[in-house]
Amino acid sequence: MLTRRFLGALAGATALSLALAVPAMAEPIVIKFSHVVAPDTPKGKGAAKFEELAELYTNGAVDVEVYPNSQLYKDKEELEALQLGAVQMLAPSLAKFGPLGVQDFEVFDLPYIFPSYDALHKVTEGEVGKMLMAKLEPKGITGLAFWDNGFKIMSANSPLLVPDDFLGLKMRIQSSKVLEAEMNALGAVPQVMAFSEVYQALQTGVVDGTENPPSNMYTQKMNEVQKYATVSNHGYLGYAVIVNKQFWDGLPADVREGLEKAMAEATVYANGIAKEENDKALEAMKAAGTTEFHEMTEEERAAWMEALAPVHEEMAGRIGAETIAAVKAATAE
Ligand code: LMR
Repeated sequence: MLTRRFLGALAGATALSLALAVPAMAEPIVIKFSHVVAPDTPKGKGAAKFEELAELYTNGAVDVEVYPNSQLYKDKEELEALQLGAVQMLAPSLAKFGPLGVQDFEVFDLPYIFPSYDALHKVTEGEVGKMLMAKLEPKGITGLAFWDNGFKIMSANSPLLVPDDFLGLKMRIQSSKVLEAEMNALGAVPQVMAFSEVYQALQTGVVDGTENPPSNMYTQKMNEVQKYATVSNHGYLGYAVIVNKQFWDGLPADVREGLEKAMAEATVYANGIAKEENDKALEAMKAAGTTEFHEMTEEERAAWMEALAPVHEEMAGRIGAETIAAVKAATAE
């Protein structure tokens, strides 16, 4: 029979040997993932999925902290913060890489360059996508994935049926010279503005209108301050998920592998929900009834395409004629 004292000693010894067998828990590596949209958008949901999978596949060695809605940084600041290492991961829209000096990304902003998500994926999932991501490396940035949002609609407080309807309207755009050229081609006055400021600018009349995929328009409640919208699908808005290169290269190889696996799966997820999220947002805004949505006629679409066609030629020097040609060749496949 074991005495109480012996049992106590045994328990103590077991606890000690267990403590010795389990290495001291290291502090997790923190990845701050900052973005500017709402959590219930394709990007917000993609980021949440990455957080879940990254922690799973690294067995808790990594702690992903997602900061949505420009909580940490606005558009321009977040890119600076990434380069300085104040945050580790972002997913800026492809229209926001110009100020970094990587104007090639503005190819995604060319009006009507992608007839569908399928055509776009031939670029983002192929050689052209890799070539574009490689251009980030000299900036101290590693590109991990392309995430979809969707095709943009135009909104304002007056109907936007034909190009002349844009004359003199102040239209908020992202920081892309191609979008500036697009609005100029329509006769509008483009105004670059951070995403977090758009709702208030629309509400107070600082700008008259804007363009965004339905999911962004709805989750920022822009439909409450825009009387009209045209489902023009005239351009694409998507993201590059990027990390600070020095941080990424410095990770232990097994951790990086776990994160790569998490990113690959989060990308499939994010790109799988993007269209549906946008379709649902458009339906929700129609049901809300604060904005009148116009579906374009063939003639109207032809008139928009004609007005916007010169932007391709005009911007070839900035984007790079080779990049535009590579994108057009990939989408024509
Ligand atoms: C915008 O500024 O309109 C968008 O880029 C926001 C976003 O990240 O989708």
